[in-house]
Amino acid sequence: MSIAVSTDWWARPDLAFQKDNLIFAGRGVNEMASQFGTPTFVYSGKRIIDNASRLHDALSNAGFADRFRIYFAMKANRFAPLLTHLKSSGMLGIDACSPNEVEHAISCGFREDEISFTAGSLSNRDYQKLGRFPGIRVNCDSLSTIRRLGELRAGTAIGIRVNPAIGVGRAENDKLHYAGHQTTKFGIYREQFDQALDLAGKFDLTIETIHFHTGCGYLTPQLDRWDEIIQRARWFIEQVPSLQTINVGGGLGVPHVNSDQPLDLAHWSGVLANHFLDSNLTIEVEPGDYLVKDSGLLLLSVTTVEQKQSTTFVGLDAGFNLAVEPAVYGLPFEPVPAVRNAGQSQTVTVHGNINEALDIWYRDIELPPLNEGDIVALINAGAYSSSMASNHCMRGEFKEMLLL
Ligand SMILES: Cc1ncc(COP(=O)(O)O)c(C=O)c1O
Repeated sequence: MSIAVSTDWWARPDLAFQKDNLIFAGRGVNEMASQFGTPTFVYSGKRIIDNASRLHDALSNAGFADRFRIYFAMKANRFAPLLTHLKSSGMLGIDACSPNEVEHAISCGFREDEISFTAGSLSNRDYQKLGRFPGIRVNCDSLSTIRRLGELRAGTAIGIRVNPAIGVGRAENDKLHYAGHQTTKFGIYREQFDQALDLAGKFDLTIETIHFHTGCGYLTPQLDRWDEIIQRARWFIEQVPSLQTINVGGGLGVPHVNSDQPLDLAHWSGVLANHFLDSNLTIEVEPGDYLVKDSGLLLLSVTTVEQKQSTTFVGLDAGFNLAVEPAVYGLPFEPVPAVRNAGQSQTVTVHGNINEALDIWYRDIELPPLNEGDIVALINAGAYSSSMASNHCMRGEFKEMLLL
């Protein structure tokens, strides 16, 4: 993949070159790197709220009025200042996927009734912890969870995560599919749904929510598939007369490369309206990526610039352990220099400082000349980066800053 940086496909009012200096959230990126050092994640509070507002408006304009809720999937980014910022917007609750995430959400100001819980492989310890938060609605993703939650809280309301056996993801990237031709661990399939209903009945559990999350990163070209998924999910929905809510998961994507277009939210919410507007059901959506991914940059320093055979390598002072998606999921995070140096641009491969062959940030990208000590910003680093960071090679240190 070779992309000329001059096209700046990612540019927007709060992220653009002014003359040759990259500006983000009203601040110079080079200046921020001097202030904070590298590696540092910087998140734009305004961009996050803009993203949430766009989603909010799309559901509103599609006619759902106050019949919808948006939860932020905390697994995407759990930086406490960012979560309290979201909380203070009043627009969002939290999608939590572990008891520790529940406690963290509460520590950031969210009430139990603002938290939706969906997780698998829960241990006895997890159930005990969850039992301390009776106000949190749990979406059960297995028969075992229905039974054990029934034992813990008979006579209460639950959600059931179903698996419609069809998935969706960015550009047909199989690694981003949570359902599909391969059997996955997520949710209850058609074949077991009768058993799920029986178990719920046995413990007098009222099924209030059907939940499905079938993949990540989808954009407009995948919306026909999105429609098909909902069509399949209706088979489950139509069998539950007590239903009040449909939780359609997350998965809404953002552009990663020049050829990607932003997700057409009117189209997306129109699909939901076609299926559910004439029902009394409330729609829940729990995005991670869509809300925070493009609100974050990872600021790094250039450590080396060196030609090996016919490839020019640019080394940075952090590797895939701080942002796993490019290496593990094949999701490119485009490197953008903080200052566009004068001179002939060249095609380079940008890599990290981890002793693993897959520690490549971006192959064959055309960039202006870079020197040791220069600053590079990786875009789209706001989601599934700091939250998934590890201390591999004991290079796990980084800072995070919320820019308001
Ligand atoms: C159940 C569930 N909901 C929501 C999300 C958030 O997905 P995304 O960040 O793609 O919107 C995930 C991500 O894995 C998930 O597993």
